[in-house]
Amino acid sequence: MTTILHISSSARTEGSVSRQLTRRLIDRFPEGSTVIERDLAVGVPQLTDVHIAAGFTPAEDRTDEQNELLAVGAEFIDELRRADVVVIGAPIYNFGPPAELKAWVDHVSRSGVTFRVDDSGFHGLLGDRSTYVVYASGGVPAGSEADFVTPWIKTALGLLGIESVEVVAADALTVDDQALAVAEQKVDSLVLQ
Ligand SMILES: Cc1cc2nc3c(=O)[nH]c(=O)nc-3n(C[C@H](O)[C@H](O)[C@H](O)COP(=O)(O)O)c2cc1C
Repeated sequence: MTTILHISSSARTEGSVSRQLTRRLIDRFPEGSTVIERDLAVGVPQLTDVHIAAGFTPAEDRTDEQNELLAVGAEFIDELRRADVVVIGAPIYNFGPPAELKAWVDHVSRSGVTFRVDDSGFHGLLGDRSTYVVYASGGVPAGSEADFVTPWIKTALGLLGIESVEVVAADALTVDDQALAVAEQKVDSLVLQ
């Protein structure tokens, strides 16, 4: 059976378009699929000096504090590894992603764990998997010059080896009263892999 990792990052728990659409998308998977719920809006610790140093300290030399700080990312990475499919709700907040989604990327991007670097460049270590990103915006069209969210999330996932990323855009919601209906249709017509 399929295991789906559902990542929510809208601060809104009521009336969130990205939450509504990611739920709609997940409901299209066969009954009995396992869904791992990861709601980042409850808070994600930001990286600190100690945390970054911990990542570069050999496992056997880490302090308890360092291990505790790395455990957050270790759990996020484990969820990604278990997932056949990843579904991410990604609203735009002030031209970027919500801070919690950025922090999640900071936690899962671990040199030597989820990617490695050599003379030929960066190599993702997670392996590809089907990923759906639901982008929601009040005004900024997906793919426009001011959309830094969708290219950013694709690049960040690409670092880990996740290349199969499909974006569903519920964009310009405050100026286009058809935008939500169009996004719902897109969700309903996706060929799920
Ligand atoms: C704090 C905040 C910042 C926002 N910044 C932008 C923005 O820079 N550009 C934009 O087009 N919409 C912006 N919006 C509108 C949201 O992207 C839009 O309401 C979207 O639907 C939010 O996702 P949600 O419905 O899942 O909560 C912002 C909304 C909030 C709450």
